[in-house]
Amino acid sequence: SARVRIHHLQQAKQRGEKWAMLTAYDTFSAGIFEEAGIPVLLVGDSSGNVVLGYSSTVPVTVDDLLVMTKAVTRSTKRALIVADLPFGSYESGPQQAFDSAVRFLKEGGAQAVKLEGGARVAPQIRLLVDAGIPVMAHIGFTPQSEHALGGFRVQGRGAGAEQLLADARAVQEAGAFAVVLEMVPAAIAGQVTEELSIPTIGIGAGVGCDAQVLVWPDMAGLGGGRVPTFVKKYADLRGELLRATREFADEVHSGVFPGPEHSFE
Ligand code: KIV
Ligand code: NA
Repeated sequence: SARVRIHHLQQAKQRGEKWAMLTAYDTFSAGIFEEAGIPVLLVGDSSGNVVLGYSSTVPVTVDDLLVMTKAVTRSTKRALIVADLPFGSYESGPQQAFDSAVRFLKEGGAQAVKLEGGARVAPQIRLLVDAGIPVMAHIGFTPQSEHALGGFRVQGRGAGAEQLLADARAVQEAGAFAVVLEMVPAAIAGQVTEELSIPTIGIGAGVGCDAQVLVWPDMAGLGGGRVPTFVKKYADLRGELLRATREFADEVHSGVFPGPEHSFE
């Protein structure tokens, strides 16, 4: 069947149907998530941390994400593929945002892009949308601004609630088709969700959002380190891969592998 389209997400909000989004960076993850029925996959710059080994998303480049976007779009037929615009690829103005976004659609095969920021990136969102490029916004805690925000902190508390609401309204007004709310108090995220006509996608933003997203290696327990408290671990892939790797190495050392069934006469 055809790809999920942005109007399907709009219809889901109107019907009160919640949906799940995951990040994907390569052929196996994308294929499995699509088979599981995940309607929207994000080629996130979280890959800076979970694929490329950086300690933040800041060093990730358009070229880094394009390689992953191509892999994900080649490996899926149904999911809507959203590519993150990385730090430094859209902030200087609408023209820069356009030049970067065009690469993700023309070369990467993505159907939409995501960028971080509220009212300050409204001109970028407006130009992209006018040019026919669907845009997902991302407000609340925005990892690319980690240094300015003073680390991983809940956003939108106290006086910050008004700012968050204003940013949410600004991105909707500029034409965004959805907005990620990251690390926002559940009550505020619920209020934003009620007020906006576009879907909200929460991460650390409570159950009141229209959709939820997690970084897949966090959700599946692939990483060795700590995961944020808002993550639920649905598997222990790291433990399983470690076990399989040790068993393979042991069987090579002891001469059990390869057996006759793995060998040619
Ligand atoms: O890069 C990413 O994975 C993201 C999600 C957490 C929304 O931006
Ligand atoms: Na991101």
